[in-house]
Amino acid sequence: MKLVLITGINKGLGEALFNHLITNGNYRIIGISRGITQKQQELLKEGKFIYVKMDLLDLNNPEQDLKILEFLDKAEEVFYINNAATISPINKIGAFKNNEIKQLLHLNTFVPIVITNYLFREASGKKISIINISSGAANSPIVGWSLYCASKAANEMFFRTLKAQEEENIKINVVSIDPGVVDSGMQGIIRTVDDSVFPRVNDFIELKNKNELQTPEAAALKIIKQANLV
Ligand SMILES: NC(=O)c1ccc[n+]([C@@H]2O[C@H](COP(=O)([O-])OP(=O)(O)OC[C@H]3O[C@@H](n4cnc5c(N)ncnc54)[C@H](OP(=O)(O)O)[C@@H]3O)[C@@H](O)[C@H]2O)c1
Repeated sequence: MKLVLITGINKGLGEALFNHLITNGNYRIIGISRGITQKQQELLKEGKFIYVKMDLLDLNNPEQDLKILEFLDKAEEVFYINNAATISPINKIGAFKNNEIKQLLHLNTFVPIVITNYLFREASGKKISIINISSGAANSPIVGWSLYCASKAANEMFFRTLKAQEEENIKINVVSIDPGVVDSGMQGIIRTVDDSVFPRVNDFIELKNKNELQTPEAAALKIIKQANLV
């Protein structure tokens, strides 16, 4: 059995990835999310996927918090799509509350590192593929997005190091994929920020107005092809 673990399945890119994999792939899917859509509720009733309902800000110990060991044990191959993330708060450095810093880094960086570490411990010896949903922000500073940029850069380096660690291991595949700009709730948030804290806000408003954002479905399809998921 091929097992796919994906975080943040209820909207945006995560929902599109979920929809694609559930219709086209031959996977047992575990979705970890605070909530699910109406369609996902129906799929859940039909036993089409496994739902771990949780706020990832509460994830500290995957063994106790996720309770997915039985599925990991049965799987021949495990895929982990690190998708859930936040760009909030967008602000100037100097204006963040400590708790805001902690929460963004917890969701965006602590969670994928802890889950990956857990998978490499519990699914050791199996085929493991990590698909890290990255961002252009991992590689270029964007004023106002410092926490998001830092979290995405940290993730890329963590997964590059994992790739180097597993260089000789043909069972391990690690990729970081930048989906490009996607028409999602995250972009909606970005467009509401004042240009005094996020000077490039008008570029993003323009992308939306000119219809230049990708749909989540198109971005998901690109990722699926790039990661050889279907
Ligand atoms: N949109 C873009 O232009 C863009 C560009 C480059 C990279 N990306 C990356 O693409 C990925 C998906 O982003 P998106 O644009 O689809 O964003 P989105 O629409 O805001 O979706 C984010 C997902 O993460 C979940 N999430 C947030 N906080 C959570 C928490 N505490 N616990 C559990 N789940 C939580 C959300 O669910 P809730 O309903 O629970 O909040 C949602 O499912 C992210 O990694 C992002 O960095 C996006």
